[in-house]
Amino acid sequence: MSSAEGAPRRIAFLPDEVTVEVTTGETVLQAARKAGIHINASCGGSGVCGKCRIIVREGELRGGISAKLSETDLAGGIRQACTATAAGDCVIIIPAESGRSRGGLTTGIAERHRAKLHEYDIEELRRAGIFQPPLEKLFLELPRPSPVDNMADAKRVVQALWNQYRERGMTIPLPVLRKLRRVLREDDFRVTVTLARPVKKKTGGNYLVNIQAGNWTRRNFGLVFDIGTTTIYGQLLDLNNGRILAGAGDYNGQIGFGEDVINRIIFAETPTGLAKMAELATGTINALINDLLHRAAVDRDEITSITIAGNTTMTHLALALEPHSIRRAPYVPVSTFFPPIRAGDIGLDLPLHCVALLFPAVSSYVGGDIVAGVMGSGLYRAEALTLYVDIGTNAEIVIGNREWLVCAACSAGPAFEGGGITHGMRAAEGAISDFDINPDSLEPMNLTIGNMPAVGICGSGLLTIVAALLENGIIDRSGKFRRDLDSTRLSEGRSGYEYLLARREENGAGHDIVITEVDIENFIRAKAAIYAGIKTLVEEVGLRIGDLEQIILAGAFGSFIDLDAAMAVGLMPEIDTDKVRYVGNGALMGSRMSELSNHIRRDVVEVVGRMTSFELSEVNSFKDQYIAALFLPHTDLSLFPAAAARADLQEKGPP
Ligand code: FES
Repeated sequence: MSSAEGAPRRIAFLPDEVTVEVTTGETVLQAARKAGIHINASCGGSGVCGKCRIIVREGELRGGISAKLSETDLAGGIRQACTATAAGDCVIIIPAESGRSRGGLTTGIAERHRAKLHEYDIEELRRAGIFQPPLEKLFLELPRPSPVDNMADAKRVVQALWNQYRERGMTIPLPVLRKLRRVLREDDFRVTVTLARPVKKKTGGNYLVNIQAGNWTRRNFGLVFDIGTTTIYGQLLDLNNGRILAGAGDYNGQIGFGEDVINRIIFAETPTGLAKMAELATGTINALINDLLHRAAVDRDEITSITIAGNTTMTHLALALEPHSIRRAPYVPVSTFFPPIRAGDIGLDLPLHCVALLFPAVSSYVGGDIVAGVMGSGLYRAEALTLYVDIGTNAEIVIGNREWLVCAACSAGPAFEGGGITHGMRAAEGAISDFDINPDSLEPMNLTIGNMPAVGICGSGLLTIVAALLENGIIDRSGKFRRDLDSTRLSEGRSGYEYLLARREENGAGHDIVITEVDIENFIRAKAAIYAGIKTLVEEVGLRIGDLEQIILAGAFGSFIDLDAAMAVGLMPEIDTDKVRYVGNGALMGSRMSELSNHIRRDVVEVVGRMTSFELSEVNSFKDQYIAALFLPHTDLSLFPAAAARADLQEKGPP
């Protein structure tokens, strides 16, 4: 029943059971955001991606119809939330495919890569004598004041630090001075001080950020966080021995405002957008901190530092720095270096004495998460000539060794996270993550995350599907399906020719799951961007792919990639797989090292200075490399001899 124009309407969202009042013209997506309810919105609400599917249970919606919705969808009450408004009070269901299921969130790597996992070794830090966290707790037993010794409390502490630990050049901030008299006398001048060491190597410059009565040196904990565009992961560390006590991850609370950084920046440019983006990022981090503290039975007060690594835009948004110029040529960030700050100053629910250390960035599109990956993977001190690739919504590439480093970023687009793919989804439960095909019957063999009924296709699934279709001659090198194959799996669908991966009656999606030629085109564009990025950077420094002695793969997609499939379709150049190492979440690994070693934290500054950034859009050859890579595996088959031989691509003739 529609309400009078201007009258408030109420939208009840299921399954969250949250009701919100909306004003005229407010879309269902805006209402959901207001209510803090997540609806996928890859395109940020501009009506393009079709991911914000909702079901009208009761009431009437205006709009919300698009070419992406089939007759069956429309008859079933399915609408797009970003273009639909409530005509009156209504009840809206958010289907699982439009929500965010946490199954599939992981910082791990695929089981098949475990033997090649590169992990730094705490003992290595100890042996090198550099295991010394930037924030360290020291126990002091101070002489009590007496008629012959009436030195001021602060001087007494500073004196004791020199006498007992040869520590000098101490600054004691006001909040610590304010509690000094009381704390010194609580346990008879036996205290634990927390020292924050300077980044730059110099005499002094230490900050005494906290003082506690008694001996608390065994309770010194730190946090590390990777702020990604899609996901945020955190770990709680024991700073005395470097052990990871707990780890947790979730989708970045900003995700409802678009899957890529550009949409986030556009929203941050609106009057209240920047504050909202900062609030959503720190909100997700705070929820994860609560979870980590609870699971490790650590008290919030015992956290002395948090190291954060994020891409440049995510770091700007978390600090509420205006990201406006990052998305416009010449792509200028406000800063690439960020001062140590009190964690509470950016809305983190951590004690006053807790210091937040943010990884510096190199450029607008090579951020602190990649710098942390370069540190964590040991690339910055490697002898071997190394290629480091972190594949997510963006692909960041670093080439070099301990002598020199160059880097670049290329936008692969959302395909590897399911964006722009008809039945694409993030790597969550029910996603087809691996695929093969029976070459005779052309029947599919799907493997899903969690072995759940299939509900969609994630990035690693998409890769193996295209590789198998190519290698079995079902699609040609331009990604087009052969029209002469006799199979019920192949047919003309609503948006072109398609292959049926899972029938409605056998999957968990409630509709057929297919891959279309348009999907394969989007995949080819995404893989071409990555291949072209690698090839261009390698050639810009006068090298050939064969000169690379080590290849390190990182990131959500990189950690589960099927390397043979990636080479078969020309996403990765043909390389000797024995040279490949996996680091899982490189940003977290580098953050851990920096949280445990002030020496490494100092190296970060020097390493960033050594990283030369290339803006690929300004490199002429990038465009040519990209166009040449818009085929499977490539226009020039001599670059992919193994793939060509394996798939008899010669037979399939040039594109
Ligand atoms: S179509 Fe609605 S968010 Fe993209």
